[in-house]
Amino acid sequence: MEDLNQIIEDARASFASVTTPADLENEKAKYLGKSGAITALLKNMSKLSHEEKRAFGAKINSAKQAVEKLLEERRQEFANEKMQKRLSSEAIDVTLAGRTVGMGGLHPVIRTWMRIEEIFRTIGFDVADGPEIETDWFSFTALNNPPNHPARSMQDTFYIDMKDETGKQMPLRPHTSPMQVRYARQNRPPIKVIAPGRTYRVDSDATHSPMFHQVEGLWIAEDISFADLKGVYVDFLRRFFETEDLIVRFRPSYFPFTEPSAEVDMMFTTGPRKGKWLEISGSGEVHPNVVRNFGLDPEKYIGFAFGSGLERLTMLRYGIDDLRLFFEGDLRFLKQFN
Ligand code: DAH
Repeated sequence: MEDLNQIIEDARASFASVTTPADLENEKAKYLGKSGAITALLKNMSKLSHEEKRAFGAKINSAKQAVEKLLEERRQEFANEKMQKRLSSEAIDVTLAGRTVGMGGLHPVIRTWMRIEEIFRTIGFDVADGPEIETDWFSFTALNNPPNHPARSMQDTFYIDMKDETGKQMPLRPHTSPMQVRYARQNRPPIKVIAPGRTYRVDSDATHSPMFHQVEGLWIAEDISFADLKGVYVDFLRRFFETEDLIVRFRPSYFPFTEPSAEVDMMFTTGPRKGKWLEISGSGEVHPNVVRNFGLDPEKYIGFAFGSGLERLTMLRYGIDDLRLFFEGDLRFLKQFN
């Protein structure tokens, strides 16, 4: 009896002391193996009487079961440890933000472009698109600005190494105004169109960039006056800036392609930008020579045109003070609009 309890206690201690599953199986042999302590006791039973065999056999069996149970518990501990190790080594951090597909965003100037198209479409304007490498004729001459005319120096133009069919060197268009002529020559009056797009000039500072955007507007019919220009343009500004709290003034100016010509200035009457006149557009009644170049009779057809800077409008809408921010591609800036 003493023996059996001692064997169980020994087994408990030795199973507890091993540090690997392999060592545990070796220890097991000491108790349950062929030459193990319990097996030895069973072998000795042959000397006992029948009655004693019964009683002693049952005790050995229960001791054997106790040792097997200790063994099984220790095996389980090793299995748990192994599992825990695996769980912690293969752990995934579910709090880590996932890798998402980057969503592109719209550039603020493109937002302005889209907004302008939307507003003018609602009042029946078509939207036209044209070449950025233009001919000299569409860029200047057709717009009543012939070679050697001093007004040509109003725009410092980029020329590229390419000649049109008349042998003249081709400019990158310095304004969207050539689109007036292109569109009008392909459409019958009434002509109502805007032409947004990229334009180029030799200019670079906080308020000028060699590439920038303009939107041209043109409305030609039999009776389109300066009053119509005022109505359309003021309404456009109110819708663009989403406020009635602005005033507009038409300041006399000169452009070869309009007569009379005006710069459009606006001023907010409330908010942080109130009280300062800002120039946003050129405009005027289209010059008879230009109407003639449309292929139309200037005695019959008349109307207005305007050309506005998209960067300018965007800066005013969002309160941006440096034009160069639009072209640096800094995501900290661009993300604010998306
Ligand atoms: N094309 C002119 C510029 O780039 C702007 C302009 C002025 C356009 C008057 C017009 C206009 O259509 O009527 O400075």
